Amino acid sequence: MMKGYNLTNIGTPLKVLFTSYLCVVGIGYLMAVTQILLTHGMADGKFGLSVDDIVYSYYGNRTGTLIENKLNGSMKDMADEPDRVTIIKWVRDGAKESTFESSGAKMVFENTCIACHSEEAGMGLPDFTKFENIKERAKQDTGASVKSLTRVSHIHLFGIAFIFFFVGAIFVFATSVPVWLKSAAIAMPFVSQIMDISSWWLTKFDPVFAWLVMIGGSGMGLAFAFMWFVSVYEMWFRKHEDSSVIDEH
Ligand code: HEC
Repeated sequence: MMKGYNLTNIGTPLKVLFTSYLCVVGIGYLMAVTQILLTHGMADGKFGLSVDDIVYSYYGNRTGTLIENKLNGSMKDMADEPDRVTIIKWVRDGAKESTFESSGAKMVFENTCIACHSEEAGMGLPDFTKFENIKERAKQDTGASVKSLTRVSHIHLFGIAFIFFFVGAIFVFATSVPVWLKSAAIAMPFVSQIMDISSWWLTKFDPVFAWLVMIGGSGMGLAFAFMWFVSVYEMWFRKHEDSSVIDEH
């Protein structure tokens, strides 16, 4: 750390910049957690993240098909009970194209699902106006595909490294924490991130690794909260460490 500069004496403009950044990424983090709860968290049909949710998301719930599992999980509220049953019955009957229309399943897809699941909706979701996209999800649920795992993995690695580089760079200027703890907190999100993402892949092949996903995710959250609160506390609630306050003009 540069001698003399720390979070208490860097001057108001830099404190405002750091705090604004921390607030925005803090809200981003809360949104990410909410999204996890609403998608992965609902994989077993119950609110809250459990090891089952993680197994279902990555390894798949192999006793059923993806469509049925989703209709009992995160897609449960997307259709009325009779409509859900119509689709589930059609899927259990082998998801045949010949009965797609007569079973009433086609109608449910058109009336309720394609509002989000189509090119037009522009949400990047599988397009259910195309039969093959439905058919593909009426097979045994083997969890996230390698294609989607690769996509999500690289987005996370780049995005999260970017966020934690700056959160860490701000936290470097904290003084109320011993050096070993500071270094550990800075390294933790990067280590957790690699652990988290490796364990998505491992869980895809063996559900035993689901608990590693939990540890990776929690480690990252813990380090984030710790660096966030210490940094904000030192900037605004701690007395100046030395008299060499940066000129504020
Ligand atoms: C309000 C928008 C919306 C509607 C309406 C909707 N879905 Fe979804 N669906 C989503 C989102 C967002 C995801 C991705 C998150 C997830 O998997 O929970 C998704 C994912 C899915 C998936 C997993 C696709 C995959 O390959 O991972 C299936 C299957 C699915 N929905 C089925 C349905 C069915 C069947 C209906 C109609 C009864 C429906 N959805 C209606 C928003 C919607």
